[in-house]
Amino acid sequence: MTVLASALDTSAPEYAAHRAAMLAKLDDLAAEHAKAVAGGGEKYTARHRARGRLTARERIELLLDPDTPFLELSPLAAWGSDYAVGASLVTGIGVVEGVECLITANDPTVRGGASNPWTLKKALRANEIAAANRLPVVSLVESGGADLPSQKEIFIPGGGLFRDLTRLSAAGVPTVAVVFGNSTAGGAYVPGMSDHVIMVKEQAKVFLGGPPLVRMATGEESDDESLGGAEMHARVSGLADYFAVDEKDALRQARRVVARLNWRKTADRPGHVEPPLHDEDELLGIVPGDLKVPFDPREVIARLVDGSDFDEFKPRYGTSLVTGWARLHGHPLGILANAQGVLFSEESQKAAQFIQLANQRDIPLLFLHNTTGYMVGRAYEQGGIIKHGAMMINAVSNSRVPHLSVLMGASYGAGHYGMCGRAYDPRFLFAWPSAKSAVMGPQQLAGVLSLVARASAAAGGRPYDEEADAALRAMVEQQIEAESLPAFLSGRLYDDGVIDPRDTRTVLGICLSAVHGAPVEGARGGFGVFRM
Ligand code: COA
Repeated sequence: MTVLASALDTSAPEYAAHRAAMLAKLDDLAAEHAKAVAGGGEKYTARHRARGRLTARERIELLLDPDTPFLELSPLAAWGSDYAVGASLVTGIGVVEGVECLITANDPTVRGGASNPWTLKKALRANEIAAANRLPVVSLVESGGADLPSQKEIFIPGGGLFRDLTRLSAAGVPTVAVVFGNSTAGGAYVPGMSDHVIMVKEQAKVFLGGPPLVRMATGEESDDESLGGAEMHARVSGLADYFAVDEKDALRQARRVVARLNWRKTADRPGHVEPPLHDEDELLGIVPGDLKVPFDPREVIARLVDGSDFDEFKPRYGTSLVTGWARLHGHPLGILANAQGVLFSEESQKAAQFIQLANQRDIPLLFLHNTTGYMVGRAYEQGGIIKHGAMMINAVSNSRVPHLSVLMGASYGAGHYGMCGRAYDPRFLFAWPSAKSAVMGPQQLAGVLSLVARASAAAGGRPYDEEADAALRAMVEQQIEAESLPAFLSGRLYDDGVIDPRDTRTVLGICLSAVHGAPVEGARGGFGVFRM
């Protein structure tokens, strides 16, 4: 039998404590998500509605097929920055006329929908997802363009947005722009670069320069409608392919455009789908509040994969890393999951071999993170831990099958890299509220800094101020702890979102379906030099 049994005791006090800690973190997270949903707040939302307009999320809802899910991406973008949580843009994956699309919608209630540095990062990430997974893109546009005070951060890299749209088009991935309002200056190139363009009557404003700018530049007197209204673009310039009488009509027409794309996924359809045998709700009670306490990732796998059916690979070797084969929502999947936290030479080599196998068989990989990094110490250095860690990182870097990463607990040091951290281009990366990620743990980092300062004082023959040291350690610990938390990392776009553990199977199911928009072809060779 390869069906995983569960040893999770749901009546144990530890389970109740883990669950309570996770629920408390989920409450905090919900409060942050609510900020993104609130957009620019009551005043600006009321003004927007008084103009007879729909909000960004209402537009998305009307675009999607009824009762289908929307996987919102990076909802906490800009968290902890000077800009509104959500970064004045909603992005995500949803189904339109049966076609999975990457949808972006400016939030005009936040500073007129203007793009700040985090908006740009979020939009570029959405484009990356569309390109890697060949998802048609629907842009719901109403934006004041560049957030002018932060223009130095966005003007030059912002060109990438228009480059991406035209490259998607060149790659045969359809792009649709629906213009609900302002789309001026650089913003005019969103409809300009899209394959299909819909504009809303008396609302769309698509011009390179508005009336004041035109007057400054040439002295010509003009008005919004003649420079860039929907009527003009549909009848005169030809930039609009479709003229919509109102917002709902525009969304209806967008659905018709997608229905006529003749879009077919290139990769295989999923096979038979079975729910896990064990309850997904119990995912709340597995990760301890204190990440120093290890947990068995098989308890997680048993609640994620079809039929809880998991064929473990090398179960007796390198036991701090669990590897094996399963299916999730009918898609084949290889899983690498940290067990005891530390990665040793055996685990690293096992991972490298497993990743190669997945590439030979064209099977996507899921990385479940709970690692404090690669083992340090004389015996391990002498045993070649650098070489072996490098093998794993080489395999992850040059693997060609889609990778999905979920940070369940710790994701520290080079362990974050070997487990396909953000810089290793996983197709999607999500964190649980329990996750923490940094170069090392806060206590360790503060301790290292203190030892270095102590050695430096000794070398210079200076006395060491123990009191100042204790204060510095406490401060550094606090800072690193705050910078390791999921909301902080998500705010910086280091993941695609922080998710409720109970939603993990659904989220991964949507991601696996999305990655099969492009052919899943592993690397048959093309790895770097493996140091043996
Ligand atoms: N950069 C920074 N802040 C901007 C902005 C931008 N591009 N566009 C709007 N805002 C701010 C406004 O200053 C205002 O702030 P406040 O409420 O604190 O005063 C808030 O966003 C809402 O703008 P407002 O003009 O009241 O909203 P509106 O819905 O009536 O109009 C626009 C929205 C986008 C049509 C209008 O603000 C505008 O024309 N903005 C400039 C557009 C532009 O030229 N952008 C440069 C392109 S590169």
